[in-house]
Amino acid sequence: MLIVDAAFYGKDAAAKAVLVKQVRDACLAKGFFQIVNHGVPEDLQQAIFEQSKDFFALPMEQKEKYDKACHPNKLGYERFRSQNFEKKAVGELKEGFFFGPNLHKDHPFVQQGRIHCGTNIYPSEVSDPEIFEKTMMQYHQLMTKLATNVLSIIAMTLNLGEEYFGKFCHDSGAVLRLLHYPPQAADASEEERGIGAHTDFGSVTLLLQDDVGGLQVFDKPTMSWIDVKPTPGAYVVNLGNVMMRYSNDTYISNLHRVINKTGRERYSIPFFFSGNPDFVVDCLPGCEDADGKCKYPPVRIEDWIFGRHTNTFEEGKGVEELSSLAKVA
Ligand code: OGA
Ligand code: NI
Repeated sequence: MLIVDAAFYGKDAAAKAVLVKQVRDACLAKGFFQIVNHGVPEDLQQAIFEQSKDFFALPMEQKEKYDKACHPNKLGYERFRSQNFEKKAVGELKEGFFFGPNLHKDHPFVQQGRIHCGTNIYPSEVSDPEIFEKTMMQYHQLMTKLATNVLSIIAMTLNLGEEYFGKFCHDSGAVLRLLHYPPQAADASEEERGIGAHTDFGSVTLLLQDDVGGLQVFDKPTMSWIDVKPTPGAYVVNLGNVMMRYSNDTYISNLHRVINKTGRERYSIPFFFSGNPDFVVDCLPGCEDADGKCKYPPVRIEDWIFGRHTNTFEEGKGVEELSSLAKVA
């Protein structure tokens, strides 16, 4: 998978043009790339993995006290088997934890009960609750900045001004998710998944993975799954459904999944940047079909995210997977 050096960003014009071209090609072909030199300090990356392991090592009954299903804004602990993308077998072999932006309890989004925009939960049983909270919030802030920068690059790949997504990014929904994938049992069913084949819901996802491996991306030309080999410290960037719709399918929101057959515990930390919940996504200028039409009707970000969340965590009627690629999974 293409690895781009984001240190070029904002410096000299020729290097920036190279970066924009590389990112455009990756968005057209795969909807996935990796970035290095992104400015997120290595010690913060290590710290968040440490805090994540510390939490997941707690006894189950302590973790389940924080079940996100019981939280008005769906923040907190994600139980084992609670998500089921492929809906073929039992739920997925992973547990997680969701954090939203650090909003004051008087913020209108908190007051209005917007999805993933409530008061964050911080478990008191971790070794150092203060460091835990500080690490999560510091990381969330840096990732918000990085996601905004990635969107500026994406705006340039579409010949839009660097600041084009300013309104879209303002007060964006942004979820930090800690994930823990235990190794699957030796006699596990062929349908066992760490996370089933899916596309992400928002605009961009920035994923930090440890060195265990198990993430795979779908390759349409060969109709096969390709391993995303871990690159230490890099972010795997992928486009979500919102960006695919926004760009009228110019860019791909690709299928991916995790199967942990390594025999080792795997930890990963995706950050999902969806866009301002009230923003209405309609075809970007220059992305229309040849006849000037757009494939999708406008959609409000919050409605889209809520629908896909409901569809994958509950048996409720959310919006269906939009990618026809899903049929192969
Ligand atoms: C996700 C996801 C991959 C990983 O959370 O949407 O695809 O490596 N995670 O954990
Ligand atoms: Ni994903």
